[in-house]
Amino acid sequence: MFLPDLLRGKRILITGGGTGLGKSMGRRFLELGAGLVICGRRGAVLDEAAAELRAATGGTVATQVCDIRDAAAVDALIERAWADGPLDGLVNNAAGNFIARSETLSPRAVDAVLGIVLHGAAYVTLACGRRWIAAKRPATVLSIVTTYAWTGSAYVVPSAMAKAGVLAMTRSLAVEWGRAGIRLNAIAPGPFPTKGAWERLVPRPDLAAEFETRNALGRVGKHDELADLASYLMSDRSGYITGDCITIDGGEWLKGAGQFNFLDRLGADDWDAMKPKKG
Ligand code: HXC
Ligand code: NAP
Repeated sequence: MFLPDLLRGKRILITGGGTGLGKSMGRRFLELGAGLVICGRRGAVLDEAAAELRAATGGTVATQVCDIRDAAAVDALIERAWADGPLDGLVNNAAGNFIARSETLSPRAVDAVLGIVLHGAAYVTLACGRRWIAAKRPATVLSIVTTYAWTGSAYVVPSAMAKAGVLAMTRSLAVEWGRAGIRLNAIAPGPFPTKGAWERLVPRPDLAAEFETRNALGRVGKHDELADLASYLMSDRSGYITGDCITIDGGEWLKGAGQFNFLDRLGADDWDAMKPKKG
């Protein structure tokens, strides 16, 4: 659906780009001409992903081991990434999450999720932003959030708090950095199967089945669908969009929200039987 050189010449850092949705977005960016830097905590996972992506696309993929909870490590990551030339884009994709009853969470459990999702995204975004501003270089940031950034959600409270914060960062910096030519947007995905998310969020088959179909379209998202949206938002073709969050969830959160949406379980006979009788 895109011109093959949509992202030609752009160097994009994807945090958590060695697995799941980060890897799928990276593959699409490479197909569209971008160069990639991917980071994560596990070097072997990054190396394997980079080899797979290079073989599939012929593109350039650099890897950087980094725990983005550590601000000094993030500065070193960005310094190393810039040593090969400036970045043009950043995707805040790395995340940590699990389901738990909130009253059982330890402080370390809360910190683990807030540290990755909220602090990590802030450290990486600010480290890139200050370089872009100093160099007067236009750039694009895309953050992967969730629809519960605005609805909230039971059983994933640290993640909901952190994603809400990332959305607030997106909207705030879109205004503060707009005149510097830096655009910031977000994507809120519904269920897109990945090993990382499914192992931690829907560890039982019955939970997974319900999670996968409780949306208007009755199916999970395809990685390509998300990767295409991300490519558009990272490209200059979306040059007038900033501070926004695009939902790609098959109508999941609206289905949960509408007061009478539960009536979709009724059949034609039920509706006929409920019609007021004439006369
Ligand atoms: C309760 C838990 C827990 C669980 C870990 N902890 N898992 N508590 N229930 N299931 C607690 C630990 O007991 C510990 O606290 C603290 O959290 C830190 O755990 P560690 O294992 O030491 O931390 P670490 O190795 O840093 O791992 C971070 C992690 C892990 C977040 C806990 O799951 C991880 O590495 N995740 C990265 C990948 C990921 O989460 N992907 C899914 C993203 S999906 P104590 O006090 O015992 O020491 C996503 C989708 C959103 O975000 C929307 C879906 C629609
Ligand atoms: P995933 O495969 O588990 O991806 C998470 C990535 O983050 C991993 O590559 C992980 O690599 C990296 N990461 C975690 N902690 C890190 C840290 N401290 N420092 C650096 N990297 C770290 O899960 P996913 O499903 O693809 O999720 C990707 C994004 O989509 C996340 O932001 C998630 O919240 C969002 N999302 C997913 C869904 C879905 O249905 N899948 C729905 C809504 C939103 P290491 O473990 O090697 O560090």
